[in-house]
Amino acid sequence: MTFDDIMAALPADATCGPLLRAMYVDKAWLLKPMLEALSLDMLPAYLREVEDIWSVMRAARPQTPEPHRLAEGMKGLAFHSMEFLKRQIEFAKTGEYKASDYDTVYKEVYSNETVMAQYLDGLLLTYVAWPNHYRLLNWYRDAYLAKAKPGECLEIGPGHGWLALWQLRSNPANRFLGLDISPHSVAYSRSVLGAAKIDPSRWSVLERDAQKGIETHPKPFDRVVIAEVIEHLAKPEIIVNAARERSHKDTLFFITTVVNIEAVDHIHLFRSLQEVRDFCTGKCGLAIVDELDLPLKMNLKMEDEAYEVALVCKPA
Ligand SMILES: C[S@@+](CC[C@H](N)C(=O)[O-])C[C@H]1O[C@@H](n2cnc3c(N)ncnc32)[C@H](O)[C@@H]1O
Repeated sequence: MTFDDIMAALPADATCGPLLRAMYVDKAWLLKPMLEALSLDMLPAYLREVEDIWSVMRAARPQTPEPHRLAEGMKGLAFHSMEFLKRQIEFAKTGEYKASDYDTVYKEVYSNETVMAQYLDGLLLTYVAWPNHYRLLNWYRDAYLAKAKPGECLEIGPGHGWLALWQLRSNPANRFLGLDISPHSVAYSRSVLGAAKIDPSRWSVLERDAQKGIETHPKPFDRVVIAEVIEHLAKPEIIVNAARERSHKDTLFFITTVVNIEAVDHIHLFRSLQEVRDFCTGKCGLAIVDELDLPLKMNLKMEDEAYEVALVCKPA
């Protein structure tokens, strides 16, 4: 697969050509794993995803000229990838995450406008720039959204709002509540759902620390998403249990986390896949229905294997 193959498959009316060039040509070193993961038969769906993300990113900030938005997006993607690489190399030596105090992470990351602008653009673009995130997004739709009962949806930590958007797109009967501690994530999620023209009466995204409780809600939640959040908390069981207490016996949970993977805001270290499973079934009272394990492929000498992991669960 080459960049020319990608461009040859791009529909004539697509607007994401400049983004593809910025990723696959200007940041070729960063996109190498994604290029290797793609095959010709995957291109139509992959290019629809890139077009979708780029159209929404642009529509969410209509006043920003395209070259400027492109530069911001690439800065975010480089920030996310470089921060991760630097920290992962350090983690391979120490076996410990660098951050340990949630309040410091809140001050330096979640409440910091400059950091969060790069963090959210970058994280959203990883869904088409990192093979594991692209696989995760597809699995979210196939193994979770397609199987969960429609109705009341809760997401803790929607961040950029892309999973929230697909929750709302997956069924017109879905109504969505997102709770995020970062004012910048709240604003970003709202702008994404607005730009994607989702009826505002179907959703709300509120600035809340979910560790302090989950919003009172008239009905139990039918779907609960907690993606890339539990590793950010010292006691992640608090939020999962709070969500479970507001669910019913058939509520479907989608939980993702990482094993031995560092980031600026990772605090809780899961050292094995089994620790993640035990966390869900033990401390959180859930039963695992389905699981996707994505090994991190990096040339780093590490004591234990590193994974992205996604679980579909139900209350036990
Ligand atoms: C890595 S992002 C995840 C974004 C998205 N869910 C995804 O999977 O790509 C983590 C998000 O969790 C939010 N978060 C962290 N601690 C939180 C808390 N105590 N309550 C609510 N949201 C929190 C952060 O502000 C950030 O937006």
